[in-house]
Amino acid sequence: MGQARSPRAGGVTARVPPNIVLIGFMATGKTSVGRIVASRLGRPFVDTDALIEAEAGRSVPRIFAEDGEAAFRRLEAQAVARAAGPGGSVIATGGGVVLSRKNMDRLRQHGLIVALRADPQAILARVGRAGDRPLLGDDPEGRVHRLLEERSEFYREADVVVETSALSLDAVADRVVAFVLAREDALRGAAISDPARPAAGSAGDRPAAGAARAVRVDLGPRGYDVWIGKGILADAAAYLDRCGLRGRLALLTHPRIDALYGRPLARRLRKAGYEVVPVIVPPAESSKSLRAAARVFDRLVDAGFDRSCALLALGGGVAGDLGGFVAATFLRGIAWVSAPTTLLAQVDASIGGKTGINFRAKNLIGAVHQPAVVLADPDTLRSLPPRQLRSGMAEVVKTGVIGAPDLFDYVESHAAECRRGDPAALEWIVARCAAYKADVVARDEREAGPRMVLNYGHTFGHAFEAAASYRGLTHGEAVSVGMTLEARLAVRLGVCAPALLDRQTRLLEALGLPVRRAALSRRKPPAPRAVRAAMAHDKKAAAGRLRFVLPQAPGRTVIRDDVPPALIEEVLTDG
Ligand SMILES: NC(=O)c1ccc[n+]([C@@H]2O[C@H](COP(=O)([O-])OP(=O)(O)OC[C@H]3O[C@@H](n4cnc5c(N)ncnc54)[C@H](O)[C@@H]3O)[C@@H](O)[C@H]2O)c1
Repeated sequence: MGQARSPRAGGVTARVPPNIVLIGFMATGKTSVGRIVASRLGRPFVDTDALIEAEAGRSVPRIFAEDGEAAFRRLEAQAVARAAGPGGSVIATGGGVVLSRKNMDRLRQHGLIVALRADPQAILARVGRAGDRPLLGDDPEGRVHRLLEERSEFYREADVVVETSALSLDAVADRVVAFVLAREDALRGAAISDPARPAAGSAGDRPAAGAARAVRVDLGPRGYDVWIGKGILADAAAYLDRCGLRGRLALLTHPRIDALYGRPLARRLRKAGYEVVPVIVPPAESSKSLRAAARVFDRLVDAGFDRSCALLALGGGVAGDLGGFVAATFLRGIAWVSAPTTLLAQVDASIGGKTGINFRAKNLIGAVHQPAVVLADPDTLRSLPPRQLRSGMAEVVKTGVIGAPDLFDYVESHAAECRRGDPAALEWIVARCAAYKADVVARDEREAGPRMVLNYGHTFGHAFEAAASYRGLTHGEAVSVGMTLEARLAVRLGVCAPALLDRQTRLLEALGLPVRRAALSRRKPPAPRAVRAAMAHDKKAAAGRLRFVLPQAPGRTVIRDDVPPALIEEVLTDG
């Protein structure tokens, strides 16, 4: 929680969308809905009560009890002044913020006001669960009715009122997002059909050149920001400092990335007072190994690293998975920063804290260890080889199929731009995917449920990689063929219509991605027998049964572990 703004001077400036200000009575869901809305739109989230508590070093009930309501309202006015800022944030306010005209004028100056409403019964039921409301005293029922009556006229001043009594938090967030996007369109006079404009549930406006935006991965004390912005690597020291990372830093990267971005970054970090220890590893999947990890451990021990030191992984998914794994295990865990430089890592691998190495099977050894911050600089994608760009697009298509139909539509209608790496298209795609993944990870950090959906295409995909000994094919290529085969399973099982498989196949082909096993390697595609053997080691197998994420419709999936082995075999052999 807390305010997330670019540390650069005026980081979020030009074309800043208005703040989205959530007002409403206690227990209407302002904070929870605010977090979901912020995550979906890829915008910073600010909670005025949290600002007050951080400033005062005490909880709101304690401030009320020790200093009284008037003192609390003064602190609240200061918090509102700070939160109201130049726009671009989602702001959850305390229930009484509306009592001050000055507060409301400030919030309205750069914001759309959204009131969340609930009937007294719903509020009392929720308060009963949450407890600890200083304003309710000994007669919660009477107080709720009286306060609601007193304040209802203020809540009516909002730009929109959303009735929450019978809705889930997600459903309330849906309504808020839909309203905000429609209103923002109206404000800038843009046509709804502008294809570059993300639709509901998406990452929001493209930033102006030079602006950065944050997507919050809301994991409470392990939460962090994914910053996305052209040139932000040049400001890395400010972002690191902001997370309390100072002193010694291992910069883990590959030789070419080191020459392109690592050395300039190290120079800047040193200038800002960091002691940088370069750790260069080969640019191949083989670096995700116990041997490579051992070399990195050696380097850290030789350099005298202790628990106060941190690691920055600069590169694609390989640098991130290896660097994150070393950070998770060295001295039982040191802080780390992910600076992804491939499209695949910016849209997927850098977010969510999954780290690991390959051992007999893909990612068999690893840990969930969240980074302190992710710095995704789309400028680095300019040097990415076309094949790696295409590879990243496979995870983008995956995201579209499993949970972001608007993204799927966008990529479908901009396939040529995506294929040639149009910077504006890529930047929007990175933010959209980051917002989606951050939301999934926040709901299920350790893959006990919803996060499994991210494995679409990976049951076959990981097995292709292992069967080919990680040579001759990229992760994205393996996932592309994996998605095709898994969608084929879905069609054969009656889970989805053939039209979805056709649409997905056409899009993958338009992006230059393979859709058949035989196309996975020019010389020797992974053989069915080797793929089967690799699948037997798959982490996703539950009680010996393979688990597949199967698409039902754009944005909807089902997880199945009852796919008949004969059908898997058939699809694999045909594929
Ligand atoms: N942890 C996760 O959640 C997660 C998710 C998806 C994939 N992954 C893992 O990610 C790995 C694949 O990552 P990847 O596709 O990024 O591959 P990669 O890390 O191997 O990078 C691909 C190649 O591109 C080069 N490269 C990277 N950035 C560059 C740039 N800006 N300019 C020029 N060259 C550049 C690299 O040196 C390398 O040669 C796989 O091991 C996969 O299992 C992890």
